[in-house]
Amino acid sequence: MRRFLVAIDGPAGAGKSTVARKVADCLGITYVDTGAMYRAIAWKALNSGIDIMKEEEVAQLAESLDISLHPEGICINDHLLKNEIRTPEITSLASVVAKMPKVRRVLVNKQQQIAEHQSVVMDGRDIGTNVLPCADVKIFLTASIEERALRRYKEMKAKGMAVELEQLKAELQKRDENDCTREIAPLKQAEDAVLIDSTHHSVTEIVEKILHLCRNKL
Ligand code: C5P
Repeated sequence: MRRFLVAIDGPAGAGKSTVARKVADCLGITYVDTGAMYRAIAWKALNSGIDIMKEEEVAQLAESLDISLHPEGICINDHLLKNEIRTPEITSLASVVAKMPKVRRVLVNKQQQIAEHQSVVMDGRDIGTNVLPCADVKIFLTASIEERALRRYKEMKAKGMAVELEQLKAELQKRDENDCTREIAPLKQAEDAVLIDSTHHSVTEIVEKILHLCRNKL
């Protein structure tokens, strides 16, 4: 198969990573979670005593790290990061570092390098618009804020975490607003992306729909 690129963007909690991972598995290609990269930089900065508000320092840190993909998460300098980058603190710090142009430049470069010689399904906020503008298939996956909050709520409850539905909803809304209104690479649907609203559809239905779009382009 020739190199095949699938870009999946959308707001927080729309189910991008679940869907993207399954689509990648079905196509037998690599899944790239770009959100995990922003989270990993925030986590490393926090744990290295770097001032997270200093763009230059955070960008230098990002540049110095060896970031690699792993089936269970993401590795920085061979250290596998899983749940530690999914905490509320890291979630909000990831949005802070994602606003920094110098940090984005480093990570977008790494993302483009990963996709240079292999087929990928990559998910994030700016994949179709900025990272892989020539992707074969572009999806903008969304769902109502109520549904996204409810899904997150159930997910966190199942992990035994104490959460409030209304608070989760407010956090998602705040993150969406940050991601949509930032100056650099804001979250928006690419002109040639297919809009999929997952509010009333199962993961299987969404995966099938995306696979159908992919097969038409293969
Ligand atoms: O996708 P996830 O929720 O893990 O992303 C965490 C944060 O990283 C997002 O809220 C967003 O601010 C940032 N992000 C980004 N561009 C991407 C992926 C994630 O700005 N391509």
